[in-house]
Amino acid sequence: MSQKKDPKDTYVLVTGGAGFIGSHTVVELLQSGYHVVIVDDLSNSSERVIDRIGQIVGEEAASRLAFRKLDVNDKAALEKVFEEFPIDRVIHFAGYKAVGESVQKPIEYYSNNLGNTLTLVDVMRNHNCKSIVFSSSATVYGDPDSLPLTEESPKKPATNPYGWTKWMIEQILSDLTVADDEWNVVLLRYFNPIGAHPSGLIGEDPKGIPNNLVPYVAQVAVGKRDAVHVYGDDYDTPDGTGVRDYIHVMDLASGHVAALAWMNGRTGVEIFNLGTGKGSSVLDIIKAFSAACGRDLPYVIEPRRAGDVTANYADCSKAKRELGWEARYDINDMCRDSWNWQSHNPNGYED
Ligand code: UFG
Repeated sequence: MSQKKDPKDTYVLVTGGAGFIGSHTVVELLQSGYHVVIVDDLSNSSERVIDRIGQIVGEEAASRLAFRKLDVNDKAALEKVFEEFPIDRVIHFAGYKAVGESVQKPIEYYSNNLGNTLTLVDVMRNHNCKSIVFSSSATVYGDPDSLPLTEESPKKPATNPYGWTKWMIEQILSDLTVADDEWNVVLLRYFNPIGAHPSGLIGEDPKGIPNNLVPYVAQVAVGKRDAVHVYGDDYDTPDGTGVRDYIHVMDLASGHVAALAWMNGRTGVEIFNLGTGKGSSVLDIIKAFSAACGRDLPYVIEPRRAGDVTANYADCSKAKRELGWEARYDINDMCRDSWNWQSHNPNGYED
């Protein structure tokens, strides 16, 4: 069972805590009084993130943060972390996340994402730490039969190995709670996280050509790419382009803090959607980003991208009811903060 404890007495292990969503969540955790231990192999992030988090939260909160560079698949190294710190809870972000790449590299995706989760829960069990929040995805809903999506909407077969890993890890963690009633599992299904910390010190830093819409739009805005490629304008949506539920990464971060507080002393498994409940089209995003950066961003219409669904957006009433959490930011706030980050850090965390 997740023991009832005050944040100031609680140690939270954050795997992948130097990544995009992880780093923003760590800021919120530190500002809520928790002790945080980040483990990250920096394969898709930078050590600079750790300093930037410190700059945002200030000296006192930063003194409650530790960072250990390691791969979650490295069981011996992870065991050491659990020996060094009295970990109470785990938030598990670490994993490969590029949809297209996962189709090319299924062995790497299954091996890393499933393998690191199994290693993690095994080590947790060895140390009697049985409380975990998992970073799942709206991808498990596939092509929806009806909108908005509630936590009861059916899971659909995934369309790529990345999606299957989210799907399967949800199952694995749920099975733990059947086998051992001391486990406490929260599955957070994120919709489309964008935006950045309002300070502009941390944000999304994709390597190579961005796969996702907003990082690509941001690179067009900063002059690194010529035009946005809009994948399809013949969908059955108000303007023909794909509709998604974009959520500010700071809202997502506060959703994790709300989930931790809610878990205090509970057992079993629970699922929450984290979104805004509002759908926005690709053209809505280009328009909001153009307003944020002060010029009309060029775009070209391309054929549909394989595997994309027409529209999805969340029903977030369960998170509001149970966690007392709801999203506060709209797409204009999200694009403003993305632009602030991108314009101050045109090369991300690199010089
Ligand atoms: N899009 C473009 N041009 C681009 C990139 C995307 O028009 O350059 C469109 C897509 O067709 C889609 C929308 O913008 O309509 C959003 O696409 P993203 O790639 O930003 O996000 P997805 O909804 O495809 O993917 C996100 C997460 C995945 C997750 C998936 C399903 O990035 O991790 O939602 O929940 F699996």
